[in-house]
Amino acid sequence: MTKIVVFSGAGLSAESGIPTFRGTNGLWEGHPIEDIATPLGWKRNPQLVLDFYAQRYGQMQNCQPNAAHFAISKLAAIFEVVCITQNIDTLLEKAGVNDVWHLHGRIDYHKCEWHFGIPPLDADWQCDYRHAITQPTKLGDLCPQCGRQLRPDVVWFGEAVDMRVDDLYEILPQIDVLIGIGTSALVYPAANLLRFFAGVKDKYFIDPHPNYDALPDFNIIQGAATEEMPKLVELLRAKNS
Ligand code: OAD
Repeated sequence: MTKIVVFSGAGLSAESGIPTFRGTNGLWEGHPIEDIATPLGWKRNPQLVLDFYAQRYGQMQNCQPNAAHFAISKLAAIFEVVCITQNIDTLLEKAGVNDVWHLHGRIDYHKCEWHFGIPPLDADWQCDYRHAITQPTKLGDLCPQCGRQLRPDVVWFGEAVDMRVDDLYEILPQIDVLIGIGTSALVYPAANLLRFFAGVKDKYFIDPHPNYDALPDFNIIQGAATEEMPKLVELLRAKNS
């Protein structure tokens, strides 16, 4: 069976009403990135950070998957699909896609502040507590394993990204098709994925403003996710059945 990797970014969810990151003068919903998406911002003002992600969590409850999420779900019903996303929203799951790799975390989980990244570099242990939430995390919500403050399960700038390298090497030889969608491919290490799958023959990229420099041998489809992803699914179905 044809095996496909779909690598997505914020543009996939843009038409569901979740703003993308670039092109907003370095501000996220009015906040400088360093205030709400760095370990230093968390140390300086955890309440501001928790408020910011509580808003993102609330926004998520009101957003619905769009035609591109549903098209990817359809693709996964026809072929063997691995979805790797930089998005912290769960719209792919809401559209019925199982087992999405969230490289930058998930808005509906929280974790111990000593989970990856935050501990001093000389710390010899990290707490691995991570759990689904049903309401936003508050100051004073403490880790049941080690008693430290809980924080959103989101990867901030300056923190390590779990790229699931072992899993990547396992699937690499089996992949027939790579689809990139709605990402500026500017944020590393996630953007390295496009290079990691460089040997895949059949490659597509959907974006209204594609980053041509990062996509030398892709079939570039310039357009919106909701318009182009359903068409690409039909193309791949016709080509591979
Ligand atoms: P960006 O905001 O960098 O890029 C969004 C991409 O989506 C751009 O290339 C847009 O042209 C494209 N786009 C916009 N509307 C679209 C639509 N309707 N259909 C298809 N594409 C559309 O977002 P990402 O590449 O996801 O990291 O950013 C990567 C990471 O940078 C994020 O995960 C986040 C951010 O800093 C962390 O939080 C660690």
